[in-house]
Amino acid sequence: MNANAPKHAAKHSRKTHTPISVTPVIAIIGGSGFYELLGFEPDKPLSIQTPYGLVEGIEQGFWAGQPIVFMMRHGSGHKVPPHNINYRANMWALKTLGVRQVIAINAVGGIGEGCAPGALVVPDQIIDYSYGREHTFADVLTDKLNHIEFAEPYTPSVRRALLASATTLALPVITAGCYACTQGPRLETAAEIKRLQRDGNTLVGMTAMPEAALARELEIQYGAICIVANWAAGLSDQPITLAFIHQTLKEAVAKVQPWLQHYLSHYQ
Ligand code: HPA
Repeated sequence: MNANAPKHAAKHSRKTHTPISVTPVIAIIGGSGFYELLGFEPDKPLSIQTPYGLVEGIEQGFWAGQPIVFMMRHGSGHKVPPHNINYRANMWALKTLGVRQVIAINAVGGIGEGCAPGALVVPDQIIDYSYGREHTFADVLTDKLNHIEFAEPYTPSVRRALLASATTLALPVITAGCYACTQGPRLETAAEIKRLQRDGNTLVGMTAMPEAALARELEIQYGAICIVANWAAGLSDQPITLAFIHQTLKEAVAKVQPWLQHYLSHYQ
């Protein structure tokens, strides 16, 4: 049990799911536009009660020969906006299931050179501009260090493995990027994007935080694949439309599926 777990945590853990014989090491968290794993035939969806609330619709089963968990960040039906996602419950549920590594899929806007719609990026840094989100399990100070080390928010070994997998597949991927996490759900103003650019960000999205930090608090390795859905506000002549975003994501997701399968079957 995590040292920061509330006292009532134990009574909630592992209550409402059917145990499986193999502990899933990896969870894939799907974001906007990424709602399924091709050919994945999960068991009945699980509900996990956590000290932070109930998480429903978690899928567990074998994919690419590995026991995995698939979680939809925005809930089934994609109904929960980024600022209302119960990040703590989601990550706690994964820890309860025994997950030791998360691969997060994030739809993002492109800011940096080359981060054009359709590009795939394995980010290495984050700047957090979100606010008012429940962002830590450290509700009380304990004699364990609450101040987690977070210089590298994405686990370097996971990043290296994702990139090695992409290289083997000859899949063009941008090998680093700084993810600006904005509050949403609205898109940014052109001036906000200029500021994010000056700050050194190359991607903008709404969901990397506090997810990445909570994973670190629970000692879960964390890597991400960012799918660029659109040029960020003010960086293209065209207005950003949902139709464009959906079409771009659809095409890019088709490349991410075999990448993930290869990653799972060769690097786990
Ligand atoms: N900004 C923030 N989040 C996003 C964007 C964007 O332009 N595109 C997809 N997610």
